[in-house]
Amino acid sequence: MNGELRKKLKSGEKKIAVWGVGYIGYSSMAYFAKEGVNCIGYDVHKERVDNVNTEGSCVIKNIEFWLAFDVAPLVKSKRIFATHNWKDLISDDVAVHLIGIPTEKNGAPFNDHLKDVLTKLFTEYKQHKTSEPPLIVIESTITPNLIEDMVFPLAKELDVSIGKDVLLGVAPRRDWFVSPDKTLKTLPRVVGGTDKYTTQLIGEVCGIISNTVLEATDHRHACIVKSVENAFRQLDITFANQLSLAYPHLNTVEILKLAGTKWNVGTYHPSFGTGGYCIPLAPQYVLQGAKHPEKLTLLKESLTTDFSQPQRVAKSLIDRGFKKIGILGLAYVGDLKVSVLCPTLALSRELLALGAEVKVQDPLFSAAEIKAETNCDTFEFPTGMNEFDAIVIVSTHMQYKSTPHIEIIENLENCTFVLDNMGIWRDLELPEKIEYHEAGDAGWLESEE
Ligand SMILES: NC(=O)c1ccc[n+]([C@@H]2O[C@H](COP(=O)([O-])OP(=O)(O)OC[C@H]3O[C@@H](n4cnc5c(N)ncnc54)[C@H](O)[C@@H]3O)[C@@H](O)[C@H]2O)c1
Repeated sequence: MNGELRKKLKSGEKKIAVWGVGYIGYSSMAYFAKEGVNCIGYDVHKERVDNVNTEGSCVIKNIEFWLAFDVAPLVKSKRIFATHNWKDLISDDVAVHLIGIPTEKNGAPFNDHLKDVLTKLFTEYKQHKTSEPPLIVIESTITPNLIEDMVFPLAKELDVSIGKDVLLGVAPRRDWFVSPDKTLKTLPRVVGGTDKYTTQLIGEVCGIISNTVLEATDHRHACIVKSVENAFRQLDITFANQLSLAYPHLNTVEILKLAGTKWNVGTYHPSFGTGGYCIPLAPQYVLQGAKHPEKLTLLKESLTTDFSQPQRVAKSLIDRGFKKIGILGLAYVGDLKVSVLCPTLALSRELLALGAEVKVQDPLFSAAEIKAETNCDTFEFPTGMNEFDAIVIVSTHMQYKSTPHIEIIENLENCTFVLDNMGIWRDLELPEKIEYHEAGDAGWLESEE
């Protein structure tokens, strides 16, 4: 590898095109532009395109905090630019295509968006030959065998030779958008192409922005790493939940905190179940791609427990006799506007089905968005909490953590029960009439005998 592509990108001779300018695509553009690379993005969502071209405001909540650098000068200089016409991305001066579109729907892998983008790219590059074949890098998370099962057949159907007409590989993302220290720059990046040359070329491109690039043997190995690392987390978290179900009379939070002091054991916390794009989907990705899925019995069991956890929580609230329930948080993690597979979705659905009156509040989501996702109305925090007999805290938003205790307590007039997913109100001195539980403590799902 002679660094030619890197030089062309950094000199402005060549550009990077980005498909999907959400969290993944937008942050790629920002990081490459910061290193002097011109980026052009496209999104089917018009507002996202307009947003990229608007200096100093971003509809992607809190991403500026995570980026920790000012994107406005990069927009002003048009180093970052987005278009409504995807054909603008097919041009001789575009050498790299990064794909950051969603690859899940309703809690399961979903590949239609990827198929759409690749069909466009393959069709166009079949007709428009460029001096060098363009490099296509899938940043989205995909199932380990998707390239073999969908992408190669699609290329064949469209008469495109991968390795000749286009180069293709993956560079899955690991970013943690709530921690500015876990970014494209700081986290090691695993890359893999369909041949050695492509792998090295992806490494060269990713090396412009990432401190550490790790070249896998090929795309298959690079792809599965992402799912395996998250499947480990899902298994660990679900083991924490199973422990608290098996030992309901003991405080599993405390047990796991103490167990986590051993040098080779992580610290896990029981919860209402995993959420987000990555952790709950990872075991499914690993199972779908396996040659012998029947060997992965742990993953199957883990998924069953994890996905039924919100139902368990809902049933326990109803069994305890609560009828008016306020849920705090629709985001699966604090201060990130992502509701994908957040336990609130299944929890509110289940509670409604069991006849409870449920409202959901989240500072990052509008009333209309909450209604559309949960079929529930919203309420003000903290002043609207008086109407509920139970409060369930799902997301660890700063607003819930930083509101003065006195203001919270003043607004729990009718409340007799608080159930707290991650224990953020653990230190609140609640009046005696209110029973408080953190997920995993003794008796959180069933009253102690
Ligand atoms: N957000 C994370 O924390 C994170 C971390 C690691 C990996 N990922 C993975 O990255 C991928 C993207 O995630 P995200 O968080 O950026 O999602 P996102 O929803 O924020 O952004 C995706 C964007 O793609 C656009 N899009 C959909 N179909 C398109 C198409 N056919 N052409 C062009 N644009 C299209 C959407 O309008 C949206 O703006 C997913 O596979 C996800 O699993 C996400």
